[in-house]
This record gives sequence, structure tokens and C-alpha cells, in this order.
Amino acid sequence: MARPAPQRVERIAVVGAGVIGGGWAAHYLRRGYRVQAFDPAPGAEQRLRTLVERAWPFLEQLGLAAGAGLERLSFHSELGAALEGAELVQESTPEQLEPKRASIEEIDSLLDPDIVIASSTSGFGMSELQTRCRHPERCVVAHPFNPPYLIPLVEVVGGRGTEPWAVEWAMAFYAAAGKRPLALSRELPGFVGNRLQEAMWREALHMVAAGEASVEEIDASIAYGPGLRWALMGPILTFHLASGDGGIASMLDHFGPALLEPWTRLDAPPLTAELRDRLVEGCRREAAGRSVAELERERDAFLVGLLSLVEGDGNGR
Ligand SMILES: NC(=O)c1ccc[n+]([C@@H]2O[C@H](COP(=O)([O-])OP(=O)(O)OC[C@H]3O[C@@H](n4cnc5c(N)ncnc54)[C@H](O)[C@@H]3O)[C@@H](O)[C@H]2O)c1
Repeated sequence: MARPAPQRVERIAVVGAGVIGGGWAAHYLRRGYRVQAFDPAPGAEQRLRTLVERAWPFLEQLGLAAGAGLERLSFHSELGAALEGAELVQESTPEQLEPKRASIEEIDSLLDPDIVIASSTSGFGMSELQTRCRHPERCVVAHPFNPPYLIPLVEVVGGRGTEPWAVEWAMAFYAAAGKRPLALSRELPGFVGNRLQEAMWREALHMVAAGEASVEEIDASIAYGPGLRWALMGPILTFHLASGDGGIASMLDHFGPALLEPWTRLDAPPLTAELRDRLVEGCRREAAGRSVAELERERDAFLVGLLSLVEGDGNGR
């Protein structure tokens, strides 16, 4: 089967149907694709259908593509059946190097060599994942953010064995599929968005471990503070507005010396049982009786409103 033009894809295989694979399925269904899912875990089909059904009202609010519908989702007990006729494979199996490598190897062995395999990995380089593929040239990382049906960003990057056409095709595909793809210039551990998230996560863990701030204080400091600005401009352009008409140059001159202050600790803190307990207990207090599913609904309703605000229709800036 020849690879279709990125704008003509109709059928997508989702391999691994947990939080992220299920989220991808919801997004692709919203955009009118046929989705063929495979996940060997007992109960995986029901969990996938529940995830998609919960997401659907929010996707309806944002708007469905012509012909989009839940009946375009099929679940398969064999990988080969899910790959049948697929024009893109979105791999979202667990973040463990060896099993992931084996999954990608198996997909590669069954799939037409023309078809792109995109991995949702949040940290492995494609160079590490594609080592046993017969056709490594079509393998790319396409790293989403949770939930993939609402957060537009996808970080796209190839590995040492990837051909440039695969990255170009994936970039055009994700743009046509209503995402906001970002092509990374090189394989960077943790990519870009995740790396920035991780830096803040490490500092938050240090503050909780040292008793410097509670879980609630950390969450409030971002949700009611810089998080609101970051949704529009990102951290650098935000600082361009932090020093009057002089912009970022004046900001750097003014606050540059603060960079030398020992404010942050970017090494990972030990994840002790005590730190784990503090985080679990803090989230329990913040949730105040709300289940994860209820918090997800609150998050999704908020994100739909935010997307409508920053993007007009939630389809990509
Ligand atoms: N959770 C996040 O916030 C997030 C964000 C971005 C990227 N990712 C990445 O997405 C991938 C999936 O993460 P997740 O959070 O959805 O994990 P998850 O545990 O929710 O889902 C993984 C699914 O893969 C299935 N699976 C296991 N072996 C498989 C196989 N051989 N073939 C097919 N399916 C198989 C499991 O049964 C499970 O349902 C990981 O690479 C992760 O790093 C996660």
C-alpha cells in the first residue's frame, strides 16, 4: 500500500490504548478518522470506550469533523488486524525501553514499509527505539501532552535511522489532523515541553520534601499565577513584557543578576516514601472528595473554554 498524502489519511492504528492511546483515539475520531485499536490487557476495550465516551461531549462542544463518530472506532485482539490498512500507526505502549522497542519492532515487521510509525514516548529518543526495525527510516517520535484530544502540541523528531521524509510527512499529517506539531531540530532527552515541565516538577518536589511549600501552595502559585500567562505566550515572550517598553533586553539587564542566586535545584530529589506520602496526601486534600474522573471532567471543561479563548475554535493556532 502506498503512503497517502498527509491530508488524505483516513485510517489510523492506535497501538496501546491507555491514557494516551485512548486520548489519541478520541482526537482522531473527532477529526473523522477511522481508528483501529490494539491493546492486549484484559478489559482494555471497555476502558478505551469509556475514555472516548467521557471525552466526546467536550469534543462535540469544540466541533466534530464531517462524518466523525464513535462507530468509526474498532478494537482488535490481534496487532496485525489493527494494522490492516492503517495509514499511520500511533504507538502508545508503556514507557519501558525494552518492551517499547519490541512493540515497535513487531509493528515494523507487520506493516507496509511506506507507512509512518509514530511513537508517543515522553522521553526515549527514536534512535533508541528503532534499533531492531527493518525499516527504521519511517519511525518518528510524536510526543503529545495529556489529554491528547485537547492539548494541541505534538513534538515531532526522528532518530538516527529516520529519513527526513518521515518527519516532513508526520509534520504535515499532524497539522492536517488539527494538532500543533513542533519539529525538534535534534533528539533532546525529554524533548522541549517535557523538559521544561520536568524542571519545574523537580523544583516542586524539592520544595515539598524540604517543607518549604505545601502541595496546595505550589499548585495555587502556578494555576492562579504564571500558568495563566503561559497559556497564551509561553515563558520567554511573557518575560518580554516584564520590564516595560525595553522588553526582554531591559528585563535581562534588570534581572540578569538574579540568575546567579541559588534559587533552584534542578537535580532530581530522592523520591522517598515520605515525599510520596506528602504528595498523595496533598492531592487528596486538594481533590476534596472528587474522583480522578470528576477532576478530568473539570479539567476538560476548563480546557475547552481556554482553547476557545486562545484559538477561536480549538483546532490549532
Ligand atoms: N500519561 C501521560 O501524561 C503521557 C504524556 C505524553 C506521553 N506519554 C507516553 O505515552 C505512552 C503511553 O503512556 P500512558 O500514560 O498512556 O500509559 P498507560 O499505562 O495508561 O497505557 C499503556 C497501554 O499500553 C498497553 N500495552 C502494554 N503492552 C502493549 C503492547 N505490547 N501492545 C499494545 N498495547 C500494550 C497497556 O495495556 C496499557 O493499556 C508512554 O510512552 C508515555 O511515556 C504519556
